[in-house]
Amino acid sequence: MKLLLLGSGGREHALAWKIAQSPKIEKLYIAPGNAGTREVGENVALKADDFEGIKKFVIDNGINMVVVGPEDPLVKGVYDFFKNDDALKQIPVIGPSKAGAVLEGSKEFAKGFMQRHNIPTAGYKSITAENLEEGLAFLETLEAPYVLKADGLCAGKGVLILPTLEEAKKELKEMLDGMFGNASATVVIEEFLSGIECSVFVLTDGKNYKILPEAKDYKRIGEGDKGLNTGGMGSVSPVPFADKNWMKKVEDRIIRPTVEGLAAEGIDYKGFIFFGLINVKGEPMVIEYNVRMGDPETESVMLRIKSDLVDLFEGVAAGNLDEKTLEIDPRSAVCVMLVSGGYPEAYKKGFTITGIEDAKAGGSIVFHAGTALKDDQTVTNGGRVIAVSSYGTDKEEALKMSFANASKIHFEKKYFRSDIGFDL
Ligand code: AMP
Ligand code: GLY
Repeated sequence: MKLLLLGSGGREHALAWKIAQSPKIEKLYIAPGNAGTREVGENVALKADDFEGIKKFVIDNGINMVVVGPEDPLVKGVYDFFKNDDALKQIPVIGPSKAGAVLEGSKEFAKGFMQRHNIPTAGYKSITAENLEEGLAFLETLEAPYVLKADGLCAGKGVLILPTLEEAKKELKEMLDGMFGNASATVVIEEFLSGIECSVFVLTDGKNYKILPEAKDYKRIGEGDKGLNTGGMGSVSPVPFADKNWMKKVEDRIIRPTVEGLAAEGIDYKGFIFFGLINVKGEPMVIEYNVRMGDPETESVMLRIKSDLVDLFEGVAAGNLDEKTLEIDPRSAVCVMLVSGGYPEAYKKGFTITGIEDAKAGGSIVFHAGTALKDDQTVTNGGRVIAVSSYGTDKEEALKMSFANASKIHFEKKYFRSDIGFDL
């Protein structure tokens, strides 16, 4: 089959790496891809949300399946675009419909959905300029710290956690006043939950589902989980506290009600669901839904899927995922992210990257995140630059390999956290 993967980050390189291993793949294209995805497929110079451009490419090249990496094209309705077009409607898109993508696209919708289906999550109130007074009064009933979330997509920046009531009230007003543009015209105020987070991933055909390996990501820039939030500085899979007993609670209370709830609400959903969970004294609760895989979780999760991912995608498309098998590698997998100095604030791009082959020779799998090719040289092209992923019999062994190989890759102002996995 000829498969087109949309996206350009480390997640997409990891997905492409796994997809390319399938004997079913005759040709893999990645749009737009990065300097790493070229190693496993052919990059296509199209943006992931250029639907008309994608349509032309899909028809001209006889593409048989489209897999969507990032949320943006999903929230913009790429699934529906294919479904409503006579020339495209028989080509499966792995990713939810626009109605399903709202689970990530609107925090207010996600909270309402969880409430309707009795899925455990933090108490909340949804506020706009019209009921600001209600929001201020709700804040008074909560204890510090205070959680404010912009309703819409803000590239991971729309959540504020404030230590005092005064700051929470002030920031609530500023958010409603357009701090994140239209995305914060509605703000969700949440009860603060305390615990360790864990990302759980499911692939669903809308009725059946497979639970993929879980992972923990490290969001802060600094060691010991200090400093600013980033897209993610590393990941570890499996997560020790996500044992059989805990995962049974997750499946019974969260996964099954979510998949059944989507079906009951008539929402077309064939793709990944990412459950951002928090372990509150042994009980899993949902922090957020995403409608795609996590990044950098994918850079460890893909290493642990032994089965043919494309075969699973075919099950998603055909609605017979229950007939497919998902075999998981019992080893640990981790990823350590190499980032540009200055990230997540201002940083420079265009530095030459060396040592990637040495890191691979040292046993790691190197996924490109923000890289580009310039005159045949691989250069930095983003905040998160390269993910160094490794297997190990346990996480310590895997991490040792990733840290050793992370040191072999060089570019100006390179930074990585050398404490990934410290809290597990
Ligand atoms: P989100 O974009 O919803 O994933 O939120 C970003 C981060 O904020 C999460 O990964 C958590 O670390 C934190 N967070 C969000 N909601 C809560 C909550 N209700 N209680 C505690 N921390 C939260
Ligand atoms: N690693 C978190 C995310 O992909 O949103």
